[in-house]
Amino acid sequence: MSLRHHEIAEAGNRILSPLTYEKLRLLGELAAPEPGARHLDLACGKGELLATWARDHGTTGVGVDISKVFLDAARERAAELGVADRLRFERADAGAYEAGPDGYDLVTSLGATWIGGGLAGTLELMRRALRPGGTMIVGEAYWRSEPSDEACRELELERDDFTGLAGTNERFEAAGLELVEMVLADPDSWDRYMASQWRTISDWLRANPGHQDAPDMRDFLRHARTSHLAHGRDLLGWGAFVLRPAI
Ligand SMILES: C[S@@+](CC[C@H](N)C(=O)[O-])C[C@H]1O[C@@H](n2cnc3c(N)ncnc32)[C@H](O)[C@@H]1O
Repeated sequence: MSLRHHEIAEAGNRILSPLTYEKLRLLGELAAPEPGARHLDLACGKGELLATWARDHGTTGVGVDISKVFLDAARERAAELGVADRLRFERADAGAYEAGPDGYDLVTSLGATWIGGGLAGTLELMRRALRPGGTMIVGEAYWRSEPSDEACRELELERDDFTGLAGTNERFEAAGLELVEMVLADPDSWDRYMASQWRTISDWLRANPGHQDAPDMRDFLRHARTSHLAHGRDLLGWGAFVLRPAI
């Protein structure tokens, strides 16, 4: 899906992942950043994580994303929550982002592990931005059970793109990281995230029947709905994993 299509599909959401507001809040309590902690969020989307944690934990931070539409929404949300003076949003490719020499206390990236060419590469670029003693949180999908060839085809995924939860932990360990906490999406929050996009796209198609993007959006909607119902909701899980460099 192109960025433009993603922007249409996510128009009704502030959190662009299967985490609920409640789970995002819990994740903040578990990560427990200190007041004044410096937070870098790669592929920050509409900035809900940065803005609510700045409000709730007194953090400061930088959000990096390639979407102007999402970054405009992030700046608006930061202003709405009264934390605009503590956050900066930059339009850039997160895979090439240079974080500077000081490093961040907290480096997060939820739901965008393609920015580093997969989980291992994304963990590496997050770690480069981390100060010694800092915390990382990566959001990533995992297989809840072994997918069939047909399911992989329908979901447009390679079997190796993800692994089970234990295998995901092995991938963290191979990257020299210790998994210290996690907040998992549940089947209901997956369904909410996916189904909210169906309504948004359906509304958009009704409002824009002759738009040049309409045929692609119609195909995307049909495919997203059937692949989720037939395979994704049973096979895929998603979690936000709290990590520290291993000792
Ligand atoms: C699934 S959304 C997750 C957004 C956000 N982390 C959240 O949880 O709400 C993926 C995000 O990655 C952004 N993105 C995609 N490729 C990117 C890149 N190369 N550099 C920066 N952001 C990127 C998209 O614009 C989108 O905001």
